[in-house]
Amino acid sequence: MTITSKDDSPATELLVKKIADLREQIAHHQHRYYVLDDPEITDTEFDSLFRELQTLEEWNPELKDPNSPTVRVGGAVADRFEKVQHLVPVLSLANAFGEEDLQRWRDRLLRLLPEEEHARLAYVVEPKFDGLTVVLQFEDGRFTLGATRGDGETGENITPNLRTVHQLPLRIPVPNAGGHSKMQPPRRLIVRGEVYVEENDFQLFNQEQARKGERTYANPRNFAAGSLRLLDSGVTAERPLKLWTYQIFLEEGLEHPPGSHWDSLEHLRAYGMPVCDESRRFSDAEWEDLIEFVGSWDELRIRLPYDLDGMVVKVDLLSQRDLLGFTGKDPRWAVAFKTGGEEATTRLLDIGVKVGRTGAVTPNAVLEPVQIGGVTVQAATLHNADYIEELDIRIGDIVLVKRAGDVIPKVLRPVKKLRDGSEKPWRMPAECPSCSQRLERPPEEAATYCVNNACPDQLVRKLEYFVSRGAMDIVGMGSRQADLFVSKGYIKTLADIYQLPWEEIEKIDGYGEKRIQNLLHAVDESKSRGATRLLTALGIRFVGNVVAELVMAEYDTLQELMDADLEALSDIEGVGPKIAEAVVSYFNLEPNRALVQSLADLGVSLANPHQEREVKEDSLPFSGKTFVITGTLPTLSRAEAKARIEAAGGRVTGSVSTKTDFLLAGEKAGSKLNKAQQLDVPILGEQDLLQGAELGK
Ligand code: IVH
Repeated sequence: MTITSKDDSPATELLVKKIADLREQIAHHQHRYYVLDDPEITDTEFDSLFRELQTLEEWNPELKDPNSPTVRVGGAVADRFEKVQHLVPVLSLANAFGEEDLQRWRDRLLRLLPEEEHARLAYVVEPKFDGLTVVLQFEDGRFTLGATRGDGETGENITPNLRTVHQLPLRIPVPNAGGHSKMQPPRRLIVRGEVYVEENDFQLFNQEQARKGERTYANPRNFAAGSLRLLDSGVTAERPLKLWTYQIFLEEGLEHPPGSHWDSLEHLRAYGMPVCDESRRFSDAEWEDLIEFVGSWDELRIRLPYDLDGMVVKVDLLSQRDLLGFTGKDPRWAVAFKTGGEEATTRLLDIGVKVGRTGAVTPNAVLEPVQIGGVTVQAATLHNADYIEELDIRIGDIVLVKRAGDVIPKVLRPVKKLRDGSEKPWRMPAECPSCSQRLERPPEEAATYCVNNACPDQLVRKLEYFVSRGAMDIVGMGSRQADLFVSKGYIKTLADIYQLPWEEIEKIDGYGEKRIQNLLHAVDESKSRGATRLLTALGIRFVGNVVAELVMAEYDTLQELMDADLEALSDIEGVGPKIAEAVVSYFNLEPNRALVQSLADLGVSLANPHQEREVKEDSLPFSGKTFVITGTLPTLSRAEAKARIEAAGGRVTGSVSTKTDFLLAGEKAGSKLNKAQQLDVPILGEQDLLQGAELGK
């Protein structure tokens, strides 16, 4: 083509027509591609049209047009943004947190609208897009001004940047959009929209920026806002910005202006604007369905490639909106629905299993990271195999996750309707992930166990517990050391903590002399923690600090406890048969007895430290005497009786044995009374205690 003349020759006319034609074609194809997601030509064909137009415009600068599709690549550089006064105030939205709030919003509508309007009341529910609000102005079909919201009255002119957003039509109506090709453009159209970025595009951008050592953004919303406010529109053009339009502020010069929001969305589509297809219309009679739809936003959010900030519920009829009006800056006819934010849905990427210190193998969820109440969650508990089976949770499912306070988040249920068939059911593995021994599941239990005492993971967990603050409290020993020393083979049983090969450890990176000394000192010091702490540290099922204390009040040393029988243990108040059973079966196992013996051989104390009190209070009436209380006393509560005994230097324990000096019995005394009688333990009544002092002698 050799069209270079600038006069009015037929060649120029042809050129003008050619350029107009190309612009129209390109606008059409951009709309098909970016708005309808349904291209008619290949990228190569499109590129060739685009380049042809670019070349013609370059050769003929006088035929340039600010709304030519070629401006999408940006170029204009500003040194600041000009302020623009909005022709229509850009209002904000009130929030409704949860169903009840939403119900109250509807009640108010019904109160405010005259009775005869109720039958026509209808709503449109649409996603609340999480981006930057923009105001777009078109005059005689041409995009003339684009601004930020600002304070609602004055915004900033960001027209050149907005021109680079592919989904924004620069001329309306876009040829053939929505089949309304003969539609006349309104004299003036002002539209509200939201510029946003898809989650994926955001991640890719940030990764690339990080790789180049350049600025990254906190979230897609900041990214969108930041990109729109760049002074160089050429840079904005490279950002993956997208647009939704959802409100007409002004549509002048139409013979039949839309009467409802639903219709105005149709208008927007017909002009070639991007309008989200997820919106739904409900009559007031369908309120229950509306509630259900609104409640499913969290699921919708997973399905969509961009993030939502809730849902917006709007009165559909524009005439009713006028009747309802505003409170402050918020229209009464619309409300943003949001949930409390304690729960969220995300994808279950995998299910891992972890061996605990008791050998219990528990499944846990590996999640696609999700924000719940301001915290990123990527792991959650799945309890046990039954839980997974009963709820039919599958790998690949979208799951509802709950986070409450600081407790471990949990998976509540799968969202089954979002399945696409690729989800995989999960089974508890047959073998331990750590030691490959067969796992066992006791008949009446929900948990599965690795019963291998030498299982490395189990040992690491046992160690972590053994050295923890409530147990042997070995400062400087933690998960890291447990892992390291087990994997190096230095620790094979808990007792090995007290015979670590320190010369070897000294060779490990990061274990200098000072550190070794501190560790050694802490290990040594822990030897005298005493029987109660040691019993806790062993990690017997159901035996924590409190139970250990109750139990060790009855026995002088762990050695003695090892030989205690079931009956004596169950008699201890606060212990009972279940715990007694756990303790007895623990000490019935030879390796456990051997462990306690090795600990003792290595210098770990099996007795509780002597209480100074005993010595000091030697002179008190009940010093050195052990009491058991049973039944209901006439006036004193058990706590009061106990306090009196202790004040007089005595000790109160839970079960009657040969070591019991007195049984304090009230009404309805049971087995303890029998036992005391069998053992010839003197039996006292409350009166004896109250008169008490002489008894100790
Ligand atoms: S309607 C006067 N619909 O949310 C009522 N707003 O918190 C006009 N937003 O900045 C708002 N998606 O721009 C409406 N589908 C939607 C929306 C939406 C996002 C923005 C809105 C405003 C913010 C209010």
